[in-house]
Amino acid sequence: MTASYTLRKAFEFYRTAVTRGQVDSPFVNRFINEVLRNNRHYYGYGELMKLKDRLERDQRKIKHLDLGAGSKYNFKEKTVKSFLKSSSSTDFKGKLLFNLARTYHPSNILELGTNLGIGTSYLYYGNRDAQISTLEGCPNLSQIAQENFNFLRIKGINLTVGDFKKNLDTVLKNTPRVDLAFLDGDHSYDGTMEYFAKIKPKLHNQSIVVLDDIYWSEGMTKAWNEIKSDSKVILSIDLFRVGIIFFDTSVQMHELKLLPSRYKPWKM
Ligand SMILES: C[S@@+](CC[C@H](N)C(=O)[O-])C[C@H]1O[C@@H](n2cnc3c(N)ncnc32)[C@H](O)[C@@H]1O
Repeated sequence: MTASYTLRKAFEFYRTAVTRGQVDSPFVNRFINEVLRNNRHYYGYGELMKLKDRLERDQRKIKHLDLGAGSKYNFKEKTVKSFLKSSSSTDFKGKLLFNLARTYHPSNILELGTNLGIGTSYLYYGNRDAQISTLEGCPNLSQIAQENFNFLRIKGINLTVGDFKKNLDTVLKNTPRVDLAFLDGDHSYDGTMEYFAKIKPKLHNQSIVVLDDIYWSEGMTKAWNEIKSDSKVILSIDLFRVGIIFFDTSVQMHELKLLPSRYKPWKM
């Protein structure tokens, strides 16, 4: 990651982003109200707080087989606690995933990058009827993720261990369609383009794809720009930390950069 690149992009984003007062699409307004501005408390949030409290105290050291961007296939040793801090979905991202699953009821969810299973669990609580497939390259992390699903008494998550490059095809073969995909591992241009191309035939009118860390590197921004310009994409919503794309042809075509109103109060 280049911090100066991300900072430069943050300024550019701030300058060009709009706030909810400037949006006149009913679809986007529903997204803003139900996904971004829904401050209700849900049962799953309480359960996840209990899990996070436990993980914050977990000093076990685990070796991370990192297959992601920039890695050299080395095992890096870190505590469980530090994985929670450095690579798990934050409250903001977790609630975003929860609210996407709660609002749009995706039946088949695919996550690339399980890590400790935090994002997976938010998705599960958002729609408990969904079939969730999640892929993780590091066997040690997958073990902790499975422990976490057991702690939350979550059953039926299909956790596949190994490189996305090797396993994604097999997982997709057993998935009739993808209603919500969360691409949150291997933040490289080539990897992201490859995974999106594989998932694309399984996407449909009501599908949603969430891309994490779109300004993490030039490669990730390039991938985001190309993916949101794909002919199948109808609406893209750039929240800076994540990008979300929709394929619903009944919605007006649009590319949107969205910022909370408090950052531009004069645009309310
Ligand atoms: C940012 S973390 C995922 C966080 C998780 N989605 C969440 O919401 O809490 C990214 C994960 O992707 C895994 N990963 C990266 N590249 C991979 C690859 N090529 N194959 C399999 N797993 C990979 C890493 O081991 C890491 O655990």
